[in-house]
Amino acid sequence: MKTSNDLLTDKFGRTVRSLRISLTNRCNLDCIYCHSEGDEGSRNEMTVGIISDIVTTAAKFGVNKVKFSGGEPLVRKDFEEILRALPELKDVSVTTNGVLLKDRAYSLKEAGLDRVNVSLDTLDPEKYAYITHGRPENLNDVLEGINTAIDAGLTPVKINMVLLKGINENEIDDMLEFVRGHKGDLVLQIIQVMDFRDGAQYNLDAEEIEKKLERRADEIKMRKMHHRKSYIIDGAEVEFVRPIDNAEFCANCNRLRITADGKLKPCLLVNDNLIDFSNADPEDFPELLRASIERRIPFYTDSKERTIIEKRTIIGDK
Ligand code: 5AD
Repeated sequence: MKTSNDLLTDKFGRTVRSLRISLTNRCNLDCIYCHSEGDEGSRNEMTVGIISDIVTTAAKFGVNKVKFSGGEPLVRKDFEEILRALPELKDVSVTTNGVLLKDRAYSLKEAGLDRVNVSLDTLDPEKYAYITHGRPENLNDVLEGINTAIDAGLTPVKINMVLLKGINENEIDDMLEFVRGHKGDLVLQIIQVMDFRDGAQYNLDAEEIEKKLERRADEIKMRKMHHRKSYIIDGAEVEFVRPIDNAEFCANCNRLRITADGKLKPCLLVNDNLIDFSNADPEDFPELLRASIERRIPFYTDSKERTIIEKRTIIGDK
């Protein structure tokens, strides 16, 4: 039996401190590039009890951060109940499309949620409808959701903007202005689009765009997570997430994923190494967590060889 110090450390020296838990594969939108957290789309969803048990076990071995995602996590009416069933953690957050946020922000905060990430790629209602297959009016719901989240203290609210060639690449400055308008309560997170669904056709040179922003930055910070950098530009904070072909990103990955139906998933981009705990005895969870940690391999590395072997896997497969 490993001790609490090393149970969650993989053979590349990376220690898992964070869980990314999908609560459902259902979603009220249908984005053109959605990676669905790399899930095959099972309809089964974990109960409050099993979520509480797996997080409690992971927390015993040093996990102190949980991010919930989906599908759209807010379609689960028992999300507050899930939050109340968690052990003490340093940081509990959710990534939501924000459409249902307005009516839930206060109850989520009360139930123990610390902060939210809201997916928002554009401030143009027609583009919003095009990207999400939703209605243009949904954009207003999201904006109201963001304001309510700020009021409720779910801050800093991070705005996830997936960069899309020919669609929103010209909106970065508008987004920065939007963030600036909310004085310190918002952080813009610009994300390079990954090759899921129609993602590939919208990919653009994110490194180039990051460099341009870097030149405009008054201050640069580095996050431990994935070694992501963030820049302060005229008072607006913007963070860059560039996962593709980025060995540094993988070398500094400290998260383990959990699928909606209760499987441990070491990497977004790999689907043939999952471990099902949905019917297991919670007493066996440490062992299953360890087995999943053993399967963690950096997807992108500086060694070309391993990258090529790993590319047999799932990226763009569906
Ligand atoms: N590439 C990059 N980011 C994506 N997301 C979803 N699909 C992709 C993709 N293909 C991100 C969005 C959303 C979060 C849940 O995942 O930013 O906010």
